[in-house]
Amino acid sequence: MASQQRRINPSFLFLCLALGLLFACASAKVFFEERFDDGWEKRWVKSDWKKEDNTAGEWNYTAGKWHGDPNDKGIQTSEDYRFYAISAEFPEFSNKDKTLVFQFSVKHEQKLDCGGGYMKLLSGDVDQKKFGGDSPYSIMFGPDICGYTTKKVHAILNYNETNHLIKKDVPCETDQLTHVYTFILRPDATYSILIDNVEKQTGSLYSDWDLLPPKKIKDPEAKKPEDWDDKEYIPDPEDKKPEGYDDIPKEIPDPDAKKPEDWDDEEDGEWTAPTIPNPEYKGPWKAKKIKNPNYKGKWKAPLIDNPEFKDDADLYVYPNLKYVGIELWQVKSGTLFDNVLVSDDPEYAKKLAEETWGKHKDAEKAAFDEAEKKREEEEAKDDPVDSDAEEGDDDDAADEADSDDADTKSETKEDVTAAAEENVKDEL
Ligand SMILES: *[C@@H]1O[C@H](CO)[C@@H](O)[C@H](O)[C@H]1NC(C)=O
Ligand SMILES: *[C@@H]1O[C@H](CO)[C@@H](O)[C@H](O)[C@H]1NC(C)=O
Repeated sequence: MASQQRRINPSFLFLCLALGLLFACASAKVFFEERFDDGWEKRWVKSDWKKEDNTAGEWNYTAGKWHGDPNDKGIQTSEDYRFYAISAEFPEFSNKDKTLVFQFSVKHEQKLDCGGGYMKLLSGDVDQKKFGGDSPYSIMFGPDICGYTTKKVHAILNYNETNHLIKKDVPCETDQLTHVYTFILRPDATYSILIDNVEKQTGSLYSDWDLLPPKKIKDPEAKKPEDWDDKEYIPDPEDKKPEGYDDIPKEIPDPDAKKPEDWDDEEDGEWTAPTIPNPEYKGPWKAKKIKNPNYKGKWKAPLIDNPEFKDDADLYVYPNLKYVGIELWQVKSGTLFDNVLVSDDPEYAKKLAEETWGKHKDAEKAAFDEAEKKREEEEAKDDPVDSDAEEGDDDDAADEADSDDADTKSETKEDVTAAAEENVKDEL
């Protein structure tokens, strides 16, 4: 077979190659692509942020505990209760008149209970050795999990030196497998968020972030007109009170009551029957209600053009994109990043995702299932009496054995959770 292939006209092959390259150049521009092959450490700068208070975590260069290919490595957070900050530089570019695609894969091998899995694009000049939580960024994108309430995809855009959260809720993946997150920003100010090449959210920068003041506002001068009738129902003017209606007494003497046999008028006074509610009595008369023919609906102030609104045709533009960074706080480590891409071509990004995550996902799932089986067997061996013990049961046992210690532990965790939420808030 090989010798036959070699017999193909070499100039024909060259032509194909040249055409192929031309096509590739015209269709996709890759500003940054990192598959974490050999040499990645020369491209990435580990920050000194948090080093002096010994809370800077180490990255582990690994394919992880379960994977589709042991040689396909990424970088994984490896220490609990640590801050992580690392970044890489690429030739500065502007996304003006271009689509911007920001994509990466992330796998939370730990059962992540609180921690980020997002990445950032930074602009201008950044001292990468000092890159940290306070470094200004242009875009922050990716999953964030904390407790039961936060399980979402962040898409924070910096505009006019203010960070703006997306207003739509985009749920993230919560399992322990690799997923690909893609953010696409187009020159028509629309965006899409994809997970595993499936679109999860799309819309406009104008409506889904508060980057600019609203286009229309309620006219602050407008007042409800005096004659505006906003009563939906009115008493029927045709309805009349029946003759003698007001003469019906509220109570009547009980017709069933009888003067007791031993009643003595002289001693007991004149006997009168006790009263009971009158079944004929219907309360004060009210005309029945009818639909108001003059009803105009609830009054609303008319919308007018907002004088504060000034459109910005470059709303989507980041003129000096230059770095990609990861800056995280993790309570439990084990988050693995791989296949980072900054490009102008959603099709290229899709293909890259298919060639990496898509190619390995079934094998990774099988390896994960195998690892889970092994873990369960190990647990059963350690605890033969209660072989079905779930993690939760073990925790209960620990709580009973030493409840003080357990209290302290959960308290710490809550504090840390709160700290992590603060961490994200600080970003805003
Ligand atoms: C790095 O990851 C591998 C695979 O999960 C693991 O065996 C190894 O112990 C990790 N190393 C560190 C320093 O965490
Ligand atoms: C930018 O922010 C400043 C200060 O908050 C504000 O005065 C200005 O109007 C903003 N400009 C735009 C275009 O939003």
